[in-house]
Amino acid sequence: MSFEEIREEKVKEIEKLLERMLPKVEGPQAKVIEAMHYSVMAGGKRLRPMLLKEASLLYGQNCEGVEEFMAALEFIHTYSLIHDDLPAMDNDEYRRGRKTTHVVFGEDLAILAGDALLNYAYETAASAVIKYPENAGIPQAFAILAGKAGIFGMVGGQSADVLNENRTEPLSLEEILFIHENKTAALIECALMCGSLLGGADLEQADRMEKAGSAIGLAFQIQDDILDAEGTFEELGKPIGSDEKNQKTTYLSLMGKEQARSKVKELTEEAVAILQEGEKRNPFLEELVLSLITRRS
Ligand code: IPE
Ligand code: IPE
Ligand code: MG
Ligand code: MG
Ligand code: MG
Repeated sequence: MSFEEIREEKVKEIEKLLERMLPKVEGPQAKVIEAMHYSVMAGGKRLRPMLLKEASLLYGQNCEGVEEFMAALEFIHTYSLIHDDLPAMDNDEYRRGRKTTHVVFGEDLAILAGDALLNYAYETAASAVIKYPENAGIPQAFAILAGKAGIFGMVGGQSADVLNENRTEPLSLEEILFIHENKTAALIECALMCGSLLGGADLEQADRMEKAGSAIGLAFQIQDDILDAEGTFEELGKPIGSDEKNQKTTYLSLMGKEQARSKVKELTEEAVAILQEGEKRNPFLEELVLSLITRRS
């Protein structure tokens, strides 16, 4: 099987897992649960749960808690997308090829579906803490999951991102890198760190994963900004031109296309080199990371 076929198989496996992990659409809360399903099951690359699983495979097989943390991380990522699209934030109407959650369910339920996914992520991860007391990596992974999603991670980055819209003078490179590091790289670092810890990595090995995740995350957001400017709706499944509409300074707007493209390549290669420093190798993981340089979706 080619890399692409293997990746597609893995995406299908992750989708089955997510469907199984979500609460059933029933009872008085059925509508908000339906909105959770709508946004989680809309598709997407499933990059974060895939990275988490592949990082765990560096250290062990079928590690306890990996499935719960894969689902938890994708729930948190999806909540961040629901809220990111809200009129108060990026005000975008499409996500993952379909109308975004607030357009279909209304702003009130979209906010609540996001809140519910964030909370359900912790409920799911906590179930692993209880179920597998013998895996010492689980409490450590739980702390990383909570930290990387919060004010010193994704929420912190998203806050700086929205506060810096419509600024008269462009942001400095340092400010942009702070935003990228937190709004995007934090959850990618989380994926690699949690996966490795669940597999039995020590803290030094998890630190190396954090460094690789940081480089992948920065590259990922620069590429996202490039695609926002030059991709198509058909490829991306979300509106193009969102950054310009919201007058955002991006790495691309500050440094230009050529520099942005070469930075994506440089950071990605740096990430793979960091992964290769470890005593264990996972060729699929390395190929997955490299494939992000040329991604069109
Ligand atoms: C979109 O993430 C938000 C960013 C951090 C740029 P993805 O590009 O991973 O979105 P999906 O999960 O594939 O929809
Ligand atoms: C948002 O970055 C990253 C998140 C934490 C959701 P963007 O606002 O550029 O993400 P897209 O382009 O809407 O997916
Ligand atoms: Mg945004
Ligand atoms: Mg957005
Ligand atoms: Mg974007």
